[in-house]
Amino acid sequence: MTPTHAQVATAAKRVAELRTQIAHHDQRYYVLDDPEISDADYDALVRELQHLEAEHPELLSADSPTQRVAGAPAEHFRTVEHRTPMLSLANCFDEAGLAEFDERVRKLLGMAEVPYDCEPKLDGLAVELVYLYGQLAEGSTRGDGSVGEDVTANLRTQRSVPLVLSAPAPPRRLEVRGEVFLRKADFARLNARREAEGEPTFANPRNAAAGSLRQLDPKVTAGRRLSLYVYEVGAWDGPPFDSHRAKLAWLASLGLPVNPENRLATGMQDVLAAHRDLLERRHALPYEVDGLVVKVDGEDARRRLGTVSRSPRWAVAYKFPAEEARTRVLAIDVNVGRTGALTPVAFLEPVQVGGVTVSRATLHNPGELARKDVRVGDAVFVRRAGDVIPEITKVVASVRTGEERTYVFPERCPVCGSATLMDEDGAILRCTGLACPAQLLGHLRHFASRGGMDIEGLGEKLCAQLVGSGLVRRQADLYRLSVESLAGLDRMGEKSAQNLVSALQKSRRPPLRRFLYALGIRHVGEATARTLAEAFPEVRRLYDASEEDLTRVKDVGPEMARAISAFFHDGKNRENIEALLEAGVQPEPPGAPTGGPFSGKTVVLTGTLSAMTREQAKEEVERRGGKVSGSVSRKTDWVVAGADAGSKLKKAQEYGVKVVDEAGFLDLLSETA
Ligand code: IVH
Repeated sequence: MTPTHAQVATAAKRVAELRTQIAHHDQRYYVLDDPEISDADYDALVRELQHLEAEHPELLSADSPTQRVAGAPAEHFRTVEHRTPMLSLANCFDEAGLAEFDERVRKLLGMAEVPYDCEPKLDGLAVELVYLYGQLAEGSTRGDGSVGEDVTANLRTQRSVPLVLSAPAPPRRLEVRGEVFLRKADFARLNARREAEGEPTFANPRNAAAGSLRQLDPKVTAGRRLSLYVYEVGAWDGPPFDSHRAKLAWLASLGLPVNPENRLATGMQDVLAAHRDLLERRHALPYEVDGLVVKVDGEDARRRLGTVSRSPRWAVAYKFPAEEARTRVLAIDVNVGRTGALTPVAFLEPVQVGGVTVSRATLHNPGELARKDVRVGDAVFVRRAGDVIPEITKVVASVRTGEERTYVFPERCPVCGSATLMDEDGAILRCTGLACPAQLLGHLRHFASRGGMDIEGLGEKLCAQLVGSGLVRRQADLYRLSVESLAGLDRMGEKSAQNLVSALQKSRRPPLRRFLYALGIRHVGEATARTLAEAFPEVRRLYDASEEDLTRVKDVGPEMARAISAFFHDGKNRENIEALLEAGVQPEPPGAPTGGPFSGKTVVLTGTLSAMTREQAKEEVERRGGKVSGSVSRKTDWVVAGADAGSKLKKAQEYGVKVVDEAGFLDLLSETA
């Protein structure tokens, strides 16, 4: 049926509202670092918009937040010439260096005191965004300052990058510069995911940001969470600014993310205080900062100062002392992970770095080790940045004695003795042993994890005990454990044994997507497991899926299809799955919402539940067509209050939201079991 004018008008109004709301929440999240709603509620807004746009294709536009991921992978990046060169910054490393900068500036300007803007120096990569009539038209990397790479499609995938400026009369053309970076939490999440999927991890947030932005397939970038702060303007068709402060305020008024840490200092004492303050808070900041950028505030003063050899005379980066220390490599060895990857690790003479004793550093992968040419006995610099694993930044090759030894990767796995094999692309060395205890341990931990079978209490130590004792040789053996068989383990009381057996019991009916994720198929993360479960609602149907069938599944590329097909064609893997099913594990196919008290409702879970974990309760609500949100608002339909519920319960009572305790919740669940 064709919609009436009135229907289209209502839809158009709602579409506009949703786009404004989504932009507002992007801003809360990325600019203010202070979200007002949970990710789930945000996703619901986007879904509603998608739904309306699907019903009314005439309302679709390229600047809609639903259109962030578009376009096929590129063969290579187009180059982009920057109309005004993107400059770099001169550095200074101490007070004397800063004083020199200030003296030169004051002398050239003939001023007694100069107002400076102080900005955290973000450790990411510089980009230029071009907005035409308020719409994002082009985004590029800095490149060599004159010519960069066109990464528009990738930047568009990022919620931190506004697609539209929020000005009533935006400039015809605006070039704006800023830094793309990864927050520490996003970096940790990304690396954890890569490790789980058997991919090499990134050495630091900077590399991760650059690697994420320079992807030929925008879908890959879309799966990363990059942040952006803008800090300068290139060419634009408006009047020149009076001051940097005014420029930043204007950029912020356009809805562009400006770092709220930026501040104005009058004179050197203020700048020094800003530097000290930032240095003190360095580890508490959500992103990595490697110094303070000190910029002359007056734009006219900047023009008078000009530029020398690609750095402006009006700014300097006052770098933080590197969190680096020199030490010696005592040994190099490898760790074997779940995917069988052998990660080289350097054992160091213990050394203090930024207040922490460091005695190990990761060398990431064989390629990295070869590139840095770290040898046993070498004097090296180790760096620790924020929450990042310490790494070796540099070898002091000049003090080598000739006694240093190059590490040779073992031809056999140090844990199980099976042959090791280099990946096709030469990046990862793997153990080929199917029964390798190190791999099995990793597989069990992954299997039991929250995103997997969610087996409470089955952590690293217990997994290691189960593998070490030989009680568990594959995932399915877990479900054969009994209180009696566990009794033989060291330090295993009857109570703990009982708890494990009942946690296993509770985990027997996972949603299929969690079951698939738990199996630990290479490259299959939680998102892929979900789409696989939708396409193959019964696990056995994957046994005979061809690579071709698999590539037809949304977001499954050829490499992933190969890994999935190989996994399900492997006899041992099938035996494990069959044994799991036989032991009573029943993955639940993704079903349509079934109606009942939670259908279409928003539910907040708080306090401790005894019959199930939070994650399981969430699944139950979602299976019944409900949505679980992290925070209570007036729009919440139900609050489930377990034991020791606190502020969320109070808020629910304040707002008059319906509250149920655990028993009531179980009753409601049973209405639509
Ligand atoms: S201003 C001349 N401001 O540092 C203007 N740069 O070493 C240059 N950076 O390429 C940019 N935070 O990638 C500026 N608040 C900030 C910055 C910043 C990080 C980076 C940027 C630049 C590099 C220069």
